[in-house]
Amino acid sequence: MNYRDPSGSLFRLPSGMRPRQHAALLDKKLGFRIKRVENKLNQKYRQYDLSMSCGQQKDYFPDTEAWIGLDPDILQTPYCDILSALSFVKAQEFVVKNIVDIGAAYGRVAFVKEALFPEAQFIGFEVVKKRQQEAQRVYDSHQMETSKILYQDVLEADFELPKSSIYFIYDFSESSDVSYILEKIIEVNDESIFLIAHGDRTLRLLEYQFQSFIPVRATSQLSVFYHPY
Ligand SMILES: C[S@@+](CC[C@H](N)C(=O)[O-])C[C@H]1O[C@@H](n2cnc3c(N)ncnc32)[C@H](O)[C@@H]1O
Repeated sequence: MNYRDPSGSLFRLPSGMRPRQHAALLDKKLGFRIKRVENKLNQKYRQYDLSMSCGQQKDYFPDTEAWIGLDPDILQTPYCDILSALSFVKAQEFVVKNIVDIGAAYGRVAFVKEALFPEAQFIGFEVVKKRQQEAQRVYDSHQMETSKILYQDVLEADFELPKSSIYFIYDFSESSDVSYILEKIIEVNDESIFLIAHGDRTLRLLEYQFQSFIPVRATSQLSVFYHPY
């Protein structure tokens, strides 16, 4: 299985398959044990959705929204959608030095990066340690030297958001938290960047409050924004 094929062919959706089904299959082939980790998290913590958690005695995951209890296939963006957004950026002939995923879960973005931007660095930040450890275990098993996933709460006061050519955000938390991170993205960068956004909260913020991010591509799944400096 060659996920490093520069055309990203492995991540293209085969006809007749649904994106989530295809992504779950690839997760397995790449060596992820996502269901096992998510089942353990479910046993330990209360599910994020109140209606699903009636009568549960467990505590919520502390301090932040970790989406525990969400179907693991919904928790993450399908590979084919990541491929299509990153291919769009690649077609702009924009120099991509790095890619940062804010709330990366199991860090699927890194695998698509390996194909399209093998020289670029990937950093994913993830607040659930068991997810971060599983992602890093799989990266290590593939000797992915340009990709890493860090155990980090991006909302901590002393967190230093790195500059990056591309940021990836899929509604990791409440709107006010996403807004805080969007402000930081603007603040820390001094060269033009792309932002790949997924999820209603993030998209609403970008439409109504963060108009310095220019929409350059919208699809039903992922939207791409450009921020000039
Ligand atoms: C909806 S998932 C998106 C995963 C990935 N970006 C993707 O699109 O495939 C959001 C992830 O953000 C993580 N998260 C939530 N709050 C966070 C925080 N404050 N710092 C870091 N990660 C966070 C959650 O645990 C979850 O794994």
